[in-house]
Amino acid sequence: MPSAKPSSPPFVFCCNQKGKFVSPSQIAVLDTGGQYCHLIARKIREAGVSSEVWPSDVPAEKLRGVKGIIISGGPCSVYDDESPTLDRSVLEAGVPVLGICYGQHLLTHLLGGDVRKGDKGEFGLALLDLEKVDSRLLAGIATHQQVWMSHRDVTVAPPPGFQITATTTTCTTAAIEDSTRGYYAVQFHPEVVHTVEGEHILRNFLFDICGCAKDWDAGQRISLVQDQIRQRAGDRKIFFFVSGGVDSTVAFMLCLDALGSERVRGVYVDTGLMREGETQFVRETFAGFGLVRIEECEEEFLSALEGVREPELKRHIIGEQFVRVQERIIEQQGLLNGKWILGQGTIYPDTIESGGTARAATIKTHHNRVPGIQKLIDAGLIVEPLADFYKDEVRTIGRELGLGPQLLDRHPFPGPGLAIRCLCADSEGVATKMPDGWLLPIRSVGVLGDSRSYAPVLALEAFPSEDGSLQAEATELVNRGSGAGPSAFNRVVATVASREPLAHQRVFASTITHGRLELLRAADSIVREMCLESGFEKEVWQFPVVLIPLGAGESRDSIVLRPIRSVDGMTADSVPMPSDLLRDMASRLMAIPEIAGVYLDLTHKPPGTIEWE
Ligand code: XMP
Repeated sequence: MPSAKPSSPPFVFCCNQKGKFVSPSQIAVLDTGGQYCHLIARKIREAGVSSEVWPSDVPAEKLRGVKGIIISGGPCSVYDDESPTLDRSVLEAGVPVLGICYGQHLLTHLLGGDVRKGDKGEFGLALLDLEKVDSRLLAGIATHQQVWMSHRDVTVAPPPGFQITATTTTCTTAAIEDSTRGYYAVQFHPEVVHTVEGEHILRNFLFDICGCAKDWDAGQRISLVQDQIRQRAGDRKIFFFVSGGVDSTVAFMLCLDALGSERVRGVYVDTGLMREGETQFVRETFAGFGLVRIEECEEEFLSALEGVREPELKRHIIGEQFVRVQERIIEQQGLLNGKWILGQGTIYPDTIESGGTARAATIKTHHNRVPGIQKLIDAGLIVEPLADFYKDEVRTIGRELGLGPQLLDRHPFPGPGLAIRCLCADSEGVATKMPDGWLLPIRSVGVLGDSRSYAPVLALEAFPSEDGSLQAEATELVNRGSGAGPSAFNRVVATVASREPLAHQRVFASTITHGRLELLRAADSIVREMCLESGFEKEVWQFPVVLIPLGAGESRDSIVLRPIRSVDGMTADSVPMPSDLLRDMASRLMAIPEIAGVYLDLTHKPPGTIEWE
């Protein structure tokens, strides 16, 4: 659903905040709240052309000098009260315009065509058929080809002067254009990989239609980002929270490189929510250079979390606690008087799922986006050099900066740490028998469509096979069982080992305690060590280990293994594990008396998220 929140761009790279940008980009991407808006800008840059993202209602005069404009897709309907719109004069500037998905609807609506609410949406793959007409946008692409759609509304009548250039079986206006006036629009998404000739189409727009020259070289992005760091910092210094993770390390190094070691300082906060050995790793990696100090804050984080069970509340408390520590350090060190700003390693997906772009829905509040931080962002006191990049790009930038694999190849680890892997339950409960397994009254966060879900888990009694067949079955089960009602669930796990059958187990009322964190840390350390030794670590992108309050007798917690494969964390596949490794892992975990069982999460993202929360 759309939110009325204004776009609050974290960094000049994307959003020209306060007019600070290095040079006008050739292509302006107007953000109407789509999950893929920045992907469009990224694809254009990959084609060698500079591009920037702007709020959709940016005044036309700010776009003076651009060679082309793209209106992104978005979750709204043009008929919604608060749906994003454009400054009309953008369309009259004589610059070619390409509308994608919602962008097509908006263009149609503003230019006198007709958009209707679709009866049923079209989501996923579709076959595009070209019409037998000349199209500048679709020139040189195959007559039949695969594209990717995600829409409900549809253009039923293009504006006067337009011709239809392609259709699909459910969409008669899959591509339309009025090449005389320079207007182009597609219902499908050329920016996603599933649109086979998407890049070709974007190149047609960039080079043939807009006449762009190649002016962007990914190899230069470091110097560009560093120019922007220097601009944002002015004569101030940058104070950083580092976690030892890839993002904050790369962001820190970019600032260090840009401003020199006299002007950049880091603090690592030991929240008590870190993995085993992590603080030591940071000590060895950074603290040795005197650039980062370590702040022991375990007690204050744990006492702030006392009694808290709700996932979003956990995240807010942790984020605010970070702000408090930061304020304290700033005060202690006399870093006031406008001499310092805060640096963060936020990357692009963090802001999307936090609802941090103009109108995206909130799935989880990232700890870098709690209100205290938001205030600093609004006051221009934050620099986030990676806010426009995806994880794979961050790794590439890190490599270009000369960082080694021991830093860059680490699995992502979330800022709120083990707190979001230590599941809590409000009250005691028992598993309910369902046709396919047992419904556990433990809720975890997931993502359905563009919205958040928070629902129980279905546990299968079967041992997970290596061929991934249970993963496929899990998707089916969630699709069937994810509707409303008491038996709805958003995740499926398989049983690897268990002291008691599920029928005899219960969910215990539980919160985050020192003891449960220790248990989780020990289990996580065993899993990490075994993954490293077996080489399985290289097979996965990330491997969260989750503690759930399920058990019997004195063994009141169980472990869920969540190995996933992903490119950018936005979507993920649950990865089947070799049976031998799984059995060995389970037997080492079950040697811990407090652990009642071991489960494997079979759920892809969507419908599950990577973390359970
Ligand atoms: P989800 O659970 O949303 O996670 O599918 C996607 C990726 O983001 C990581 N993650 C975070 N990283 N701070 C971070 O630095 C956070 O608050 C946060 N929440 C999730 C998660 O580990 C996964 O890689």
